[in-house]
Amino acid sequence: MFTIITGAQFGDEGKGKVVDLMAGDYDIVARFQGGDNAGHTVKVKDEVYKLHLIPSGFLLDSRVLIGPGTVLNPEVMVEEIRMLEEAGVQVSAKKLGIDGKTSIIMPYHIELDGLREASRPEKIGTTKRGIGFAYIDKIARDEVHFSDLIDEKRLMQRLSDLASQKEEEIKAMGGDPTIVTESSLVERYISLGRKLAPYLADVSYEINTALDEGRSVLAEGAQGSHLDVIHGTQKFVTSSSTIAGSACAYLGVGPTRVNEVLAIVKSYITRVGAGPLPTEQEGDAGQHLHDVGHEFGTTTGRSRRCGWFDMPLAKKSVYLNGYTSIALTKLDVLTGLDPVKICVGYELDGKVIDYPPEDTSKLARCVPVYEDMDGWDTDLSSVVGYEDLPQKAREYVKRLENLMGVPVKYISVGPGREQTFMK
Ligand code: GDP
Ligand code: IMO
Ligand code: MG
Repeated sequence: MFTIITGAQFGDEGKGKVVDLMAGDYDIVARFQGGDNAGHTVKVKDEVYKLHLIPSGFLLDSRVLIGPGTVLNPEVMVEEIRMLEEAGVQVSAKKLGIDGKTSIIMPYHIELDGLREASRPEKIGTTKRGIGFAYIDKIARDEVHFSDLIDEKRLMQRLSDLASQKEEEIKAMGGDPTIVTESSLVERYISLGRKLAPYLADVSYEINTALDEGRSVLAEGAQGSHLDVIHGTQKFVTSSSTIAGSACAYLGVGPTRVNEVLAIVKSYITRVGAGPLPTEQEGDAGQHLHDVGHEFGTTTGRSRRCGWFDMPLAKKSVYLNGYTSIALTKLDVLTGLDPVKICVGYELDGKVIDYPPEDTSKLARCVPVYEDMDGWDTDLSSVVGYEDLPQKAREYVKRLENLMGVPVKYISVGPGREQTFMK
């Protein structure tokens, strides 16, 4: 069984929570793209884990893997392992594997990300974790691999090969190039490499052999479909491909092996950073979604922008990912809003359309066309079954399901594991 999970909107849909919940049914959980720009919150009883790199299946028995399509900051990784071990979760080499071809995020990537963002007349609002610049180096074949990091000689050679080029890049952007040749840098990275060396793995081989032996694998996406570097709302996107097909490419698994593609869909929409968000609400409804949904970024602490459910964007997500089912999260947050609005189309240049224009600047000009649904007042946080939802909440779920044309399989009504049920 090979299942892919991706966020269907702009990230923060609740992927961490759903992956934690499903991990019990999978032998392996593998992250396939992104880096510590992701922030996934997993709540189990009173414990809250906020993780950026380690796949959200870490709490159960599954083996967790970091695939070669990710970009990994070893300082963040070591800190996450330390934090988990302090909380009593052992992260042994049996538990965690990191592919040798994973690109390492170096301090100069973070520096360049900050410098570039500062110099952009129109900001993207990146997380400043060096993600874009680490991917540039991956594509340019100028990266430090995980297998370089854990081999002292190779690491020293690699960094010396890259030093002058990186210094030039930083100087050209008006930064301080000494960060590249700082005397403690090599020592620090050798030490990080030593700590992480036991986790070396061949992720594609492990996943394919597991599937051959009838074991199950869950591919965990980070970010969301509209932040995809190719199909998202350029230039306001992240630097990796976030859609389901890329799980195959990034992990090295053939598309014929995929059984299920699960969408994580928030019952409304949020976005961190800049870029169009046609249904954004700045008045009372937006404040309600923000406050009740605690919409603050896990990685940067920034306030998330909030808006009504955007069906044209959701339809595009269905096409981009080929979803077989949906986990609908944060339905509880809509309690108390009346009406609850669904954006079913946009008005653009005098025409009504029901699918987003491909051009981001056109999307920014789209004016939402709403359908009003009746709201409900009942607190949903302790609802344990679909039939126990108020009628109006069920109508909302059914309407979303019909318009997206994909069955809703799970509904989430709170951050806890128990606050989830099958439809
Ligand atoms: P991810 O990036 O997709 O993993 O999502 P985040 O973890 O960044 O953000 C989702 C937030 O919503 C987290 O704080 C979760 O604990 C919380 N959450 C997840 N599902 C629900 C839900 O159904 N209801 C409520 N109220 N909170 C939820
Ligand atoms: P999870 O996995 C929400 C956004 C940033 C910015 C853009 C580019 O928690 O859903 P980057 O640092 O990646 O170059 O920033 O992408 N972004 C996210 N927004 N959730 C995320 O991850 C995000 N990861 C990146 O805010 O707009
Ligand atoms: Mg998040």
